[in-house]
Amino acid sequence: MARMLVTGGAGFIGSNFVHHVVEHTDHHVTVLDKLTYAGNRASLAGLPEDRVELVVGDIADAALVDDLFGRVDTVVHYAAESHNDNSLDDPRPFLDTNVVGTYTLLEAARRHDVRLHHISTDEVYGDLELDDPERFTERTPYNPSSPYSSTKAASDLLVRAWVRSFGVRATISNCSNNYGPYQHVEKFIPRQITNVIRGIRPKLYGAGENVRDWIHADDHSSAVLTILEKGEVGETYLIGADGEESNRDVVEAILGLMGEPRDAYDHVADRAGHDMRYAIDSTRLRTELGWRPQFSDFRAGLEATIRWYRDNESWWVGAKDGVEAFYASKGQ
Ligand code: NAD
Ligand code: DAU
Repeated sequence: MARMLVTGGAGFIGSNFVHHVVEHTDHHVTVLDKLTYAGNRASLAGLPEDRVELVVGDIADAALVDDLFGRVDTVVHYAAESHNDNSLDDPRPFLDTNVVGTYTLLEAARRHDVRLHHISTDEVYGDLELDDPERFTERTPYNPSSPYSSTKAASDLLVRAWVRSFGVRATISNCSNNYGPYQHVEKFIPRQITNVIRGIRPKLYGAGENVRDWIHADDHSSAVLTILEKGEVGETYLIGADGEESNRDVVEAILGLMGEPRDAYDHVADRAGHDMRYAIDSTRLRTELGWRPQFSDFRAGLEATIRWYRDNESWWVGAKDGVEAFYASKGQ
């Protein structure tokens, strides 16, 4: 059994990971989460108290982090400011958490010699043209576009430097767009699902031709556990499930699955610097570590996600009005 610290474990992907760990292993999990607007205690509700403990605090709090690192052998680092649109509005928290926060964890990892896995994003590679036959691999040069993705790129480079300079035992994974339960309503898929539930028309940025490479959050979790078990320290693994879809196709699929006309959506102002396409080649993770995604049918996964938002209105309803007011102020 491992004693695991999961930063950002009350957020979307972190909480999915904690549920996955409880279900599939006997590890004990301490969650360190600041409970920003994106963190939610309710995402951990129902988990056994003898397996999961929540510590509310900041990953940039060096004394707290030092204390917690002394009590665990493995750290999985999900905590971040994660939303591109917010980073265009106010980049500062992205620097504080994604860069200084990651630096704080690396210094503690160095002192305590714990195994660290750093969660990152495919956005560090910039974007691809729609007709580019190439996909991102572990060798693709970094070329981030937004304040969010540039701070994630910075955090990845810090991890690499701490591995090389100080021998920190770390791995990195860069994953594509996740969907599933517990995702904040600011993000594309939950925003559109909850719009339809509320009788609001879905909102598509620009022409809606941008492509994202969707993976179910549970498949992301199984990939991270695989890297923790079999990955090589100092290495990077790309995580993806061959799920490329245009935003327009996703909105039309949501409308169709929710019994609405497939064209009942609005085009709104585009995102500044909007990346056109992400696409992951996860050959390394599959061939070297033997990982396979389980959610191969995106529309079935989307249907289950729609059901989750219908069944769990109390989880998201408190955030919805504020998010829509923010978007409305930007013409989105
Ligand atoms: P999220 O915004 O849903 O959750 C982030 C969590 O981190 C929240 O619980 C928040 O309270 C916590 N947090 C923020 N600042 C903190 C701080 N200073 N100290 C402690 N906790 C803090 O994000 P997410 O979508 O679950 O993303 C999690 C990680 O996965 C991020 O590192 C992100 O870059 C990465 N990632 C996300 C996706 C995606 O599709 N969402 C894809 C690839 C990688
Ligand atoms: O690729 C991984 C990244 O995926 C993660 O690193 C980020 O943390 C995560 O937020 C996500 O970034 P995106 O910017 O791709 O996700 P978002 O849900 O914000 O938007 C997905 C696409 O949908 C993007 O092309 C913008 C578009 N969009 C978004 C919203 C909120 C719309 O068309 N309408 C909307 O209302």
